[in-house]
Amino acid sequence: MSTSAGAGRTPLIAGNWKMHKTIAEAKGFIEALLPLVAATDRVDVGVCPPFPALKPTVDAARGSRVQVFAQNMHQEEHGAFTGEVSPPMLLELGVHGTIVGHSERRELFGETDRALAQKVPAALDAGLTPILCVGETEEERESGDTERKLRHQIQEDLARVPAERLGEVVIAYEPIWAIGTGLVATPEQAQEAIAFIRALVADRSREQAERTRVLYGGSVTAESCQELLALPDIDGALVGGASLDPESFATIVNATG
Ligand code: 13P
Repeated sequence: MSTSAGAGRTPLIAGNWKMHKTIAEAKGFIEALLPLVAATDRVDVGVCPPFPALKPTVDAARGSRVQVFAQNMHQEEHGAFTGEVSPPMLLELGVHGTIVGHSERRELFGETDRALAQKVPAALDAGLTPILCVGETEEERESGDTERKLRHQIQEDLARVPAERLGEVVIAYEPIWAIGTGLVATPEQAQEAIAFIRALVADRSREQAERTRVLYGGSVTAESCQELLALPDIDGALVGGASLDPESFATIVNATG
């Protein structure tokens, strides 16, 4: 099956490796992946290795269609921020962009909407594509607070992005209850939340909202991806566990393009 994102948007399938893969494993993954995705050119393919494997992955993927993203970035160019990595440092590695605001970073490492309001424009200013993650907890969904949470995150995190650049931001809707749980959002839940996110972007710029790619993330597998990726507002997926194996990741890519 092949799907296509709406309004001429090129779908993106990105693998978030989280804290998995050494340099040797990352290189091996790219070598195995490239022939498996060679036939598909209507979908952008990305992988997000941990920091030590970024440069080796960029080198292994050079000349191919696989884009490499970091998993986090500090907003400042340099300074006394022990353990952090800045936009120019990532740019120098040759990465395409970076995930920001993943729920694991928000929940486990205290990443705030306030910091994200600086990180998203800092990435764009450096020439990096931000993949901004947003999503509600199970409790928020059950108490009917999903839209309130998404509105808060989208409005705050994109507040300092000029309206005319909103279309350069990739947004990943990742309901926290679906991450690593095997519980995938139903197509209705995913479509509704993603259409709501696009409408929030349209409040700032209708034209840019049509350009903005909004991905789904949360227990995406080779099996669950087809129904989700066929939905009109869903422009691809941010894949965790199923992106660690080149075969299963390639299956998701090929189901998209
Ligand atoms: P899983 O696909 O393992 O649920 O992880 C989703 C995710 O957090 C991607 O960023």
